[in-house]
Amino acid sequence: MVTKTSIEFDPYTERKAFDETKEGVKGLVDAKIAEVPRIFHVPQASLTEKKPSVSVSDLEIPIIDFASVHVDTASREAVVEKVKYAAEKWGFFQVINHGAPLNVLEEIQDGVRRFHEEDPEVKKQYFTRDNANKKFVYNSNFDLYSSSPSVNWRDTFTCYLAPDPPSPEELPVTCRDAVFEYSKHVMSLGGLLCELFSEALGLESEILKSKGCLKGLSMLCHYYPPCPQPDLTLGVSKHSDNSFLTVLLQDNIGGLQILHQDSWVDVAPLPGALVINIGDFLQLITNDKFVSANHRVPANREGPRVSIASFFSSSALPNSTLYGPMKELVSEENPPKYKDITIKEYTEGYFEKGLDGTSYLSNIRI
Ligand code: OGA
Ligand code: NI
Repeated sequence: MVTKTSIEFDPYTERKAFDETKEGVKGLVDAKIAEVPRIFHVPQASLTEKKPSVSVSDLEIPIIDFASVHVDTASREAVVEKVKYAAEKWGFFQVINHGAPLNVLEEIQDGVRRFHEEDPEVKKQYFTRDNANKKFVYNSNFDLYSSSPSVNWRDTFTCYLAPDPPSPEELPVTCRDAVFEYSKHVMSLGGLLCELFSEALGLESEILKSKGCLKGLSMLCHYYPPCPQPDLTLGVSKHSDNSFLTVLLQDNIGGLQILHQDSWVDVAPLPGALVINIGDFLQLITNDKFVSANHRVPANREGPRVSIASFFSSSALPNSTLYGPMKELVSEENPPKYKDITIKEYTEGYFEKGLDGTSYLSNIRI
């Protein structure tokens, strides 16, 4: 919980007042505020430790073409090699020819924009902090009441699509068809990615699926309004993902940055591409062979920016499966680096901590 630090500035009360508007950051921008409120200010300490930003011309995350994956064994092996390199060295890559048609990508972005730009009175009906049994959750900053040092300049709605898909009427009409259509493609791409990751580990293609990596799917649909003072805050602060893997669609404004070799590297928008990243659970079960890299999105005068992050994770749903480094990947020379944990327990710890710039993996490291 946020603690009270001074009489003049009570972050809890101010965060709560912001929350109670149920209008998110979009509501502040619509009210034409000229200054970013204090709760959004990034603490001075983390501003001064800001690493240099490296532009895409200096360093680029891998771009992998999946067109040849089903052609023949040799072409598939070539793709697996690239996936292995990206998963081990970057934790991130962009994929082209992934199977999701361009119009489906456009429609999900339009649908997300339509929901967030809908009449606030309509949006408020979907606003909640109680995720239990809800398939559609709209709010701003899932970690608003955690110990996160500052509030992020973005609003989000989340659709929980697997293991129990919502019925159509649980989703607002503004985005319903787009969410269902896009999620089908994400699910099948997730299947292919799990096969390629398994092969990249030198294991049988179905192993990651058999471990339940595709069981849960949550789609986080973000809206980053234009920011009047982008140097004071962030769109999303430094974090790694609470997932096995994440499929991200960012619009043409761009903004995603990855912490790589101590520099922030821009992920330049590539029309039609999807950004894939390794999440904490894959780093955990691969015993650090694959890396769940830190990333962030700065605030921007330009906007609104829209992105859709599809998390493969059963998150807080009851699931007693214990996850730890896979027995196939550990040995006497390479002992397990992590304790076993359930996804539910991990997710609860991750939520409580909030996006404070540290990885929850460090809490279960042996
Ligand atoms: C996330 C995330 C980046 C983006 O949802 O975890 O990192 O571009 N999103 O919105
Ligand atoms: Ni993320």
